[in-house]
Amino acid sequence: MKPLVYYPDDRLVVPAEPVERIDTATGELARQMIATMQDNRGIGLAGPQVGVMERLFVVRVPEDEPRVFINPLITAVSPDTGRYEEGCLSIPGVYADVTRPREITVEAWDEKGNHFSLAAEGLLARVILHEYDHLEGRLFIDHLSVRKRERLLRAYHKPDGEE
Ligand code: NI
Repeated sequence: MKPLVYYPDDRLVVPAEPVERIDTATGELARQMIATMQDNRGIGLAGPQVGVMERLFVVRVPEDEPRVFINPLITAVSPDTGRYEEGCLSIPGVYADVTRPREITVEAWDEKGNHFSLAAEGLLARVILHEYDHLEGRLFIDHLSVRKRERLLRAYHKPDGEE
C-alpha cells in the first residue's frame, strides 16, 4: 500500500519521466500500486498518484486481470468517441462525463520487461487514456469546460488529514 496524492498537488500537474530500467524494484512497485488501487476500489492508478514521477500505471477493469503499463505510448485512437462518467482516486467525490475515443491501441512494457501491443475498447480503453493523461500531468477535470470544472471543484475538499 502506498499513500495517495490528492488534488491539488504539483505532482499531479507535471509530466512524469520515463522508467529507465525494468527490474525487481519495478515489479514490486507495480505490485504495490495494484494493491493500493484495489484497496481504494479504483480501476486504474498512475505513478504520480502515489508520488512516483515515472511513466507507469496499473489498470484493472471488472472481469479482467490487473495490467501493468510501463513507458506506454498511445499509437492509435478511433475517430468515434463516447461519453462516460469518470472519477479519480486523487480527486475523491468528483465525477463528470468525459468524451474520449472508443477504441485505442497502446504499446508498453509489462513489469517483467516484455513489450506488448494491446487493442482496447470501451471501459478498458477509457481507463488507459485516463491513466495515460496522468503521466502527462493531465487530469480528467482538464477535459471539462472551465465553468463546469469550477462548479465541481467548489464542492471538493482534500480528504481529512491531507495537506
Ligand atoms: Ni485518475
